[in-house]
Amino acid sequence: MRIGILISGRGSNMTALVDAVKTGVIPDSEVVVVMSDQPMAAGLEKARERGVETVIVERRGRKRAEHDAEIVKELKKRDVELVCLAGYMRLLSAEFVNAFEGRIVNIHPSLLPDFPGLDAQRQAFDAGVKVTGCTVHFVDEMLDHGPVILQKEVEIFDHDTADSLAARILEQEHKLYVDAVRKLVENKDKFFMAELRQTA
Ligand code: GRF
Repeated sequence: MRIGILISGRGSNMTALVDAVKTGVIPDSEVVVVMSDQPMAAGLEKARERGVETVIVERRGRKRAEHDAEIVKELKKRDVELVCLAGYMRLLSAEFVNAFEGRIVNIHPSLLPDFPGLDAQRQAFDAGVKVTGCTVHFVDEMLDHGPVILQKEVEIFDHDTADSLAARILEQEHKLYVDAVRKLVENKDKFFMAELRQTA
């Protein structure tokens, strides 16, 4: 599977995926490009250190449709088959979603449909729930929405702070994203033919 990863920042989920591909934990795959809408994203250097090509398509001052069209062009140029959003902070246009129909996935630090949007770990913490977690899901045009691929629960302890909780969720995110992409790669006929046609 030819994988393209989109980031906007730190890139820890991206490096988890790149490393899993390199070690064969995600089989028969290559991360062919890491793209960022933020030129200063810390993840870009981490991708380069791992020998992965990086492309910056700056978001600043551009309409979503124009920005997305350029990203799609770069992904298609490299024959990307699966797009992984990993802390990518811009909602995708319908044109982008349609260009890779059923082939875009995202990771989110809550048990969706609970706590979509920014700061999901803090949202869960402030809501006082006892269990939250993370979700890998197919992407549509709505924020943190689309068919769920895998979820992992994370317990919230009495001694937790929003930060300690976020750190524990992040550890699980890295494992879950690798598991989900491996599942897609190993079952690609099933996922990329049938299930992808459904909507959440
Ligand atoms: C992660 O918590 C991810 O779930 C969310 O944004 C954060 C990105 O972190 N979508 P990183 O850039 O992967 O370290």
